[in-house]
Amino acid sequence: MKIVILTGAGMSAESGLRTFREMGGLWEEYDVMEVASPQGWHKDPELVMRFYNERRKQLMDCKPNAGHFGVAELEENFDVHIITQNVDNLHERAGSTKVLHLHGELMKCRSSIDETLVYDMDHWELKMGDLCNKGSQLRPHIVWFGEAVPAMEEAIPIVETADILVVIGTSLNVYPAAGLINYTRSGIPIYLIDPNKPDIPMNGINFIQEKAGKGVDILKEELLQKYR
Ligand code: OAD
Repeated sequence: MKIVILTGAGMSAESGLRTFREMGGLWEEYDVMEVASPQGWHKDPELVMRFYNERRKQLMDCKPNAGHFGVAELEENFDVHIITQNVDNLHERAGSTKVLHLHGELMKCRSSIDETLVYDMDHWELKMGDLCNKGSQLRPHIVWFGEAVPAMEEAIPIVETADILVVIGTSLNVYPAAGLINYTRSGIPIYLIDPNKPDIPMNGINFIQEKAGKGVDILKEELLQKYR
């Protein structure tokens, strides 16, 4: 049985990483177009670099939470595919083996002239003057607003072949990622875990109104009982 899990910032909130659109969220403190768009990068690359360096530093100091571990444990009984909007690596660190990142990865950087030149990072700081093999400035490996989301091509067939869809910790505000939930075969069970009710039609959705840690626990019990 194939379970596809779409995750967002709420998945990592209990690890201490801030979400984007809630009170106290990152987009309250920062102007998204200044730090997460190609225009922002052209205008002030150092500011963009500092923003992602800070995110990377925080990520290296935090750990996966019970939700990440719970989702990884589902692999013992199901074919689990994670499609995440998160740029952290907490799913991988919790042991999940099939993780597709829609919006890039914090622990990678890439050439600013050739997007196929991607490098792993094992330290938090990316600096002006750090260059790719072709001699151009390295930039964070993040899909910024206004850029294409190439991983959608891989994500759509994964969702189309899901037997169960689980959505965890995303406001479903950002497209094309949010549109993925419309690619499921009709009638499959859909679960949604979030302490707050997202602004979408909820008919037919099994809503578990909890934080990720507790919510995944409830989900696991239900899935094992019904579908194992
Ligand atoms: P948002 O900040 O828009 O939404 C976070 C969701 O997590 C909300 O629905 C919260 O109610 C929920 N939440 C909060 N705490 C939670 C917890 N402990 N457990 C479970 N859920 C919780 O974040 P995303 O939907 O991920 O893109 O945002 C999507 C994209 O917008 C991000 O990938 C990022 C951002 O701009 C880029 O930067 C490219």
